[in-house]
Amino acid sequence: MDAQALKQMVATEAVRQVPEGEVLGVGTGSTADCFIDALARVADHLPGAVASSERTAQRLRAAGIRVLDLNEVDHLSLYVDGADEIDHGMSMIKGGGGALTREKIVAATARRFVCIADESKRVARLGRFPLPVEVIPMASAYVMRELGKLGGTPRIRAGFVTDNGNQIIDVAGLSIEDPRALESHIEALVGVVSAGLFAHRGADCLILGTTRGVQIFESTVASKAG
Ligand code: A5P
Repeated sequence: MDAQALKQMVATEAVRQVPEGEVLGVGTGSTADCFIDALARVADHLPGAVASSERTAQRLRAAGIRVLDLNEVDHLSLYVDGADEIDHGMSMIKGGGGALTREKIVAATARRFVCIADESKRVARLGRFPLPVEVIPMASAYVMRELGKLGGTPRIRAGFVTDNGNQIIDVAGLSIEDPRALESHIEALVGVVSAGLFAHRGADCLILGTTRGVQIFESTVASKAG
């Protein structure tokens, strides 16, 4: 079974968790795209969705799903998104597609975060995937210097501008021992908009696509969002 088939499998499973008649949050990336395709089949039962990127908003509209502004919605019971890496404590690296800040905002407002991923994303320790950090352009040289002190190799993502008009610095070569501490440390740097570490608000549920079928893991930590 190839990676695309695994993504479609977890996407189909995630649609089963979508509460009928409620607005949900939708993530960004190739796995989230599969989720939107699967969601299209139940579009008639959905009042709308909040998108974590312009790309996702376009795809939702093309699937016949109404896109709502987060500020119009007072309650999101569910957010579904992919991840670049997820560890056994449900902390994630996200932002490979550059949508980390909006993803983090939508995730923060949702009561439940369901991560959908193929088995290549599940890791014992985060950091093999370069950690994306969204930064205000005038602060990029300063933030690069500060990120360099963490032991990894920071590099500006060339030719890329986020939906918020900012830059992404990808930090390669980190071995992340304490995801929460690192998330707090990076997000305290002046000029950083957000770090692609989702540890304080990790996933509540992981739907993992494996060649042996779908595996579902629930977090043992109570959700802090909503
Ligand atoms: C987008 O900015 C990311 O956070 C994605 O959710 C993440 O990169 C996973 O993408 P894929 O599903 O394409 O691997």
